[in-house]
Amino acid sequence: MAPIALPLTTDRLILRLFTADDIDDMYAYQGLESVARYLYRPPRTRERCAEVIDGFAEPAGWAADGDNLVLAVCRADEPGVIGEIVLKLASAHARQAEIGWTLHPAYEGRGYATEAARAAAAAAFDSLGAHRIFARLDVENTGSARVCERLGMRREAHLVENDLDGERWGSEYIYAALAHELKR
Ligand SMILES: CC(C)(COP(=O)(O)OP(=O)(O)OC[C@H]1O[C@@H](n2cnc3c(N)ncnc32)[C@H](O)[C@@H]1OP(=O)(O)O)[C@@H](O)C(=O)NCCC(=O)NCCS
Repeated sequence: MAPIALPLTTDRLILRLFTADDIDDMYAYQGLESVARYLYRPPRTRERCAEVIDGFAEPAGWAADGDNLVLAVCRADEPGVIGEIVLKLASAHARQAEIGWTLHPAYEGRGYATEAARAAAAAAFDSLGAHRIFARLDVENTGSARVCERLGMRREAHLVENDLDGERWGSEYIYAALAHELKR
């Protein structure tokens, strides 16, 4: 897969790699129960955020199944990180990429997640050579489903009680789009 030219820029946002200076900004949203609610894992401690960002220091590239590209989402008009977009190479052979998004709740409701995801999805198709992108989300995560639909992704699957979140059986939707289906 070809490398991606970073940063990615949109009208209002800059998507770039994380640095050690971003630990507090990441913890500000990844530390929240409300953000972790649909991620099937507990909120991250500050120490965990530091470890995660440290792990980005030597990116694995985007060549083998499971390789992740994690992009910090920043507003162009103010410093700091407001969220992140993850592009995971799910299958190098079939050029399948999983996309995910997380936003600090203070910045929800302004279209930033969709704007960032659209730029990352476009880069996945145009620069990374992805053939299909997909997202997996809890069926109760209506905000995330709306992001998928705004991007032009189609709901392809409804997995019923396929995961266990504490005491709760979780069900998931899979949304996907091919390059020509992405609403740019
Ligand atoms: C999922 C998540 C990213 C959605 O965030 P969001 O702010 O609702 O999504 P967007 O940034 O696309 O914003 C869309 C909203 O902004 C509104 N909006 C305001 N100004 C806008 C603009 N200029 N452009 C586009 N939308 C705008 C839209 O009307 C829309 O509101 P609606 O959903 O009530 O119709 C966020 O809730 C989140 O991070 N959740 C926790 C982590 C998580 O669950 N991640 C996904 C796991 S699968």
